[in-house]
Amino acid sequence: MKRVILLGPPGAGKGTQAQALQARWGVPQISTGDMLRQAVRDGTALGRRAQGYMNAGEYVPDDVILDMMQERLARPDAARGFVLDGFPRTLAQAEGLDRILERLGVALDAVVDLEVPEEELVRRLSGRLVCPECEAIYQRDTQPPKTPGRCDRCGAELVEREDDRPEAIRRRLEVYRSEAEPLQRRYREQGLLHAVNGMGPGDSTLREIERSVDAETAR
Ligand code: AP5
Repeated sequence: MKRVILLGPPGAGKGTQAQALQARWGVPQISTGDMLRQAVRDGTALGRRAQGYMNAGEYVPDDVILDMMQERLARPDAARGFVLDGFPRTLAQAEGLDRILERLGVALDAVVDLEVPEEELVRRLSGRLVCPECEAIYQRDTQPPKTPGRCDRCGAELVEREDDRPEAIRRRLEVYRSEAEPLQRRYREQGLLHAVNGMGPGDSTLREIERSVDAETAR
C-alpha cells in the first residue's frame, strides 16, 4: 500500500511517472489536471468553471479542487493507496488534504519533488502531445508515438494541450514558482519530502522515485 504525492513544475514528468507508478504499484494515479480536462470535455459545471483558469495557466480555486478531491479519495480504489499527480499545489490544498486523510484514517508515506531546470521544462512542454482518450503522454523529440500522430495504446489522434501555448507555459511556470516553496517547506518539515532528479531518462527517474518511497515505507 503506497500513498504518495508527486510535486514538481509543469513539464517535470509528474504525469509520465505517475502513470508508470500506477502500473508498478497497482494503485490509482489521481491527476487533478486529467480530472479537470475530463470535466471540460464533458461540459459539466465544474469543467465550465475550470476551463478559463486552465487555458490561462492559472490555478483553479482551492475550494473547487478540494471538493473534487474529497469525493475522489473516498472512492473504493483509493483505499488501496494512490499516487497524487498535481495535487496539492497550494498550502490551503495541503491543509485540506490533511483533513481529508484524517477523516479517512490514513496517512501519507512520501512526497516526491521532481527537479528539472526551466529551459528543459519549456522544451518538453513545447513538444508535448497527449491522447484525449486515454491520457497517454508523448514528446515529439524524446518520446514520440510509434505511428506519427496516433496513440500507441488506443489509436486515437494525439493533440497538443490548450495550455501548452508559449504564453500559457510562461504563466504556469510563474504561478508554480510563487506557490511551490511554502509547500516544499511544509513537507520538508514533516520529514516527507524527497527531491528526485527528473532530468535523466524516465526509467532512471522511476527507479529513483521507487528507492525514495521504499526507504520511507521501510522505516
Ligand atoms: P496539470 O495537467 O497537472 O499540468 P501541470 O502541473 O502544468 O503539469 P504537466 O501536466 O504540464 O506536466 P507533468 O509534470 O505532468 O509532465 P508530463 O509527464 O506531462 O494541470 C493543468 C492545469 O489544471 C493547471 O495549470 C491548473 O490550471 C489546473 N490544475 C490542476 N491541478 C490543480 C490544482 N491542484 N490546483 C489548482 N489548479 C489545478 O511530461 C511533460 C513532457 O515531457 C511530455 O511531453 C513527456 O513526454 C516529456 N517527458 C517526461 N519525462 C521526460 C524525461 N525524463 N525526459 C524527457 N522528456 C520527458
